[in-house]
Amino acid sequence: MNQLTLKIRNVKAITTAPEGINLVVVKIETTEPGLYGLGCATFTQRYLAVVTVIEKYLKPFLIGKDPQRIEDIWQTTMVNSYWRNGPILNNAISGVDMALWDIKGKLAKMPLYQLFGGKCRDAVPAYIHADAKSIDHALELVEERKEAGWKNIRVQVGGYGGDDPRMHRPTHPTPGVYYDPKVYMRTMIKTFEKLREKFGNEVGLCHDVHERLSPHEAMYFAKEMEPFHLLFLEDVLPPEQVMWFDHIRSHTVTALAQGELFNNPHEWMDIVMNRYIDYLRLHVSQVGGVTPIRKIIAFCGAFGVRTAWHGPGDLTAIGHAVNAHLDLSSPNFGIQEWSCSIKETTYEVFPGTPIVKDGYIYVNDKPGIGVDIDEKEAAKYPCHDQLPEWTLARLPDGTAARP
Ligand code: GCO
Ligand code: MG
Repeated sequence: MNQLTLKIRNVKAITTAPEGINLVVVKIETTEPGLYGLGCATFTQRYLAVVTVIEKYLKPFLIGKDPQRIEDIWQTTMVNSYWRNGPILNNAISGVDMALWDIKGKLAKMPLYQLFGGKCRDAVPAYIHADAKSIDHALELVEERKEAGWKNIRVQVGGYGGDDPRMHRPTHPTPGVYYDPKVYMRTMIKTFEKLREKFGNEVGLCHDVHERLSPHEAMYFAKEMEPFHLLFLEDVLPPEQVMWFDHIRSHTVTALAQGELFNNPHEWMDIVMNRYIDYLRLHVSQVGGVTPIRKIIAFCGAFGVRTAWHGPGDLTAIGHAVNAHLDLSSPNFGIQEWSCSIKETTYEVFPGTPIVKDGYIYVNDKPGIGVDIDEKEAAKYPCHDQLPEWTLARLPDGTAARP
């Protein structure tokens, strides 16, 4: 193959929902027969918008370009729309960027972690979700996860914000997903008291506040959670209020993690530079893919901040594998979220999906990202166009809240 004449021949978006969650994959095909790359472009709540950007704008922009010029393509796609740093464009660009890194690895005949400098650890320590309906159910789920070999577990009761049917609401409440921050905080404090009573400090525990508290409530809650020595407390603040971390940091040593909602560099730069957080938890495709995230890893390392990339259900196996390649090769990696659980259907649609054993994630050593897509299998699981309901969060009096 003549790498001097290698070009991008086609760019396509593949949508699939093997676990009922809308996913977007970018496939970049080159002029070299059989040489293609895959990337994750999943913004599940607005997946059709991302597909439109890929097909209508990035495809004509990229066809005929040299796929080896990853940095130049990232820089030029990022400004080709002039306005930038939003979730839809960043996810589309991420799908392209990851696909180009996949091609680079295939050309170099190396897995991505080798391209990034090789292993800093032998496998990737991960945490799993325990989404309980009650405090007792949380104790049962943590027991189950421990028996399955998990050493680190995220515990929620009633999802995000908790659910308390006895909530004091006006008559004829406006439709929404109601929660009472005070009841939520009391429930979670009691939950972690019981968890520590039963399991001691042998299991790593974290909790996702999911931006459901006011800044003052976040300050109080982070302080109250201090005795439970959490791995971290996640998203105590909404992105719009992150400068309150200054106050929270001076009141508690509870470890803090933030970032899945960030798109723009100015959302994470200050809080990393000021060491307001312990873990940066970006959703890799939300910031534009591998090319920016590798610079962010080095930036975090300079300030003693570790990484704990977002690894939810709304992420393709390609995205999970990219997380793991980054985790394997970053000196300041902290821990990796491993969604709730990855089902058989995902392994069928995405051959090469990373495997998990005893709380550790393992990637294969195939060149590139190491995950393929079976397009026939993918077509068996069409995406569904419906508005998410869970994001219509409301406080007891009906005030719209951050979801
Ligand atoms: C997490 C996240 C997810 C998000 C989801 C939104 O920490 O895994 O908070 O659960 O809610 O990714 O689409
Ligand atoms: Mg979260």
